[in-house]
Amino acid sequence: MIPYKTIIHLDRNSKQALYLQLSNQFVTLIKNRVLTPGAKLPGSRTLATILQVHRKTVIASYEELLLQGWIESIPKKGTFVHQSIPLLQQKEFSDDLQPTQFQDTGFPFLKDPLLERAPIEKLADCYYLNDGVSDTRLSPMKAVAKEYRSLANRKRNIEYLGYGTTYGNPELRAALVDYLNETRGLHITKEQLLITRGSQMALYLASRLLFEPNSYTIVGETNYIAADLTFQYVGARVLRVPVDENGLDTDVVEALCKQYKIQALYCTSHHHHPTTVTLSAKRRMHLLNLARTYHFAIIEDDYDYDFHYDHAPILPLASHDQNGNVIYIGSVCKTVAPVYRVGYLIAPKAFVDQCAKLRRLVDRQGDSLLEAAFSNFIKNGDLDRHIRKVLKIYADRRTLFCELLQQHLGRAVSFEIPKGGMAVWVRLEQQYNWQKIAIAAKKNSLIIGDWQRYDTAQLGHNGMRMGFAAYNESEIHTIIEKLRMAFEESYPTDGAG
Ligand SMILES: Cc1ncc(COP(=O)(O)O)c(C=O)c1O
Repeated sequence: MIPYKTIIHLDRNSKQALYLQLSNQFVTLIKNRVLTPGAKLPGSRTLATILQVHRKTVIASYEELLLQGWIESIPKKGTFVHQSIPLLQQKEFSDDLQPTQFQDTGFPFLKDPLLERAPIEKLADCYYLNDGVSDTRLSPMKAVAKEYRSLANRKRNIEYLGYGTTYGNPELRAALVDYLNETRGLHITKEQLLITRGSQMALYLASRLLFEPNSYTIVGETNYIAADLTFQYVGARVLRVPVDENGLDTDVVEALCKQYKIQALYCTSHHHHPTTVTLSAKRRMHLLNLARTYHFAIIEDDYDYDFHYDHAPILPLASHDQNGNVIYIGSVCKTVAPVYRVGYLIAPKAFVDQCAKLRRLVDRQGDSLLEAAFSNFIKNGDLDRHIRKVLKIYADRRTLFCELLQQHLGRAVSFEIPKGGMAVWVRLEQQYNWQKIAIAAKKNSLIIGDWQRYDTAQLGHNGMRMGFAAYNESEIHTIIEKLRMAFEESYPTDGAG
């Protein structure tokens, strides 16, 4: 008999049940061929004595192994490692296989330079100047988990596990319709809403259906880089219009409409990404009129509608759309946490239907269980409660961040205090550059990130977004201090504060 006492180690402090530890170790012994097909296992009493466990533990472990097909029980003879274990029967179809690390493919594929943008480094134990994300430590994970649990305990829970509709969980669609009609002044029905995995999927689906190669889209200068890349990736040509303190310059949009056949215009009306300004009411009406006259789609990406600190938000363009021009997209990913991939695309039914068909090719359907949990989360009022709670915290963080920025770097930068959102748009005076400061900051474990992404048309405006929401008071002090030190190391003769 093999020396079970020395090769099997059971940890009585582990959270995993002893019988499972035992069966897992038997599986390893079989896989490693320490126990070969046909080998006899000790009787349950014998093994229990050897390992000093209860006999029931060994019996439960053998039952588990029987169920999984690793062992077989032959009446009056005993328990044996199964003669035909699939894993051991695998055969190579060639003898001369060399271990290979596949770095390069053996086939050609499309490598679009648009996809080559350097990923942002993620280093441990560093602070990151993100471009405006929520504090995931404040996420209502327990409330969402509670909804998950209650769904799992329902009698008819099985319905969430199969293939469902491409449009998304019907309960969530209904809950979102009520929620968005109430909070955004929309007037939509369920047929006009498709659930997506976050706003980005909505943006991609819409772009795929809107643009043919070389069709034109209008965006702001500057703009959210992932939107630019998505449009360009599907072949659209991007025309840029200036953005001032009232948002996109709609007179320039009008001039472009007279010159080109515009297929769509992208805007982040609530807080322009990246500069955070709000599109004025007058320009909103102007845009809607232009869209009606020139028959283009307005893709309204309302990524942070829930976060406004000084006054009630202006209702989205979608709430005033009388002609079916607006494709409204949003998600809970910023509001609750990026990991919950629940977003939506709202548009006239014909477009939603087409998006649902296209979505089937990409993803088949969303995560029904998560979507059902979120539907309850919204209906119970938990989403509202969460927003109210974090709104106050983020407003305080914004104020502190801006005060410290002004105090310690006021002479080197200029910025407006944002009325909402989770980031400040910070412009560095022209004689300085982020590159130099980023190198100094990194030495002191502050990662500034890819600031060039805010200058998509390479106009050299020297601006970057700095997220304040994800950090608490003491972290904000630390970050601004690190920024100040980085600036002083880079420009020792210039005081920044
Ligand atoms: C302007 C804007 N739109 C869309 C997104 C994507 O959001 P989601 O996580 O919902 O896909 C982001 C994320 O940063 C964003 O900043």
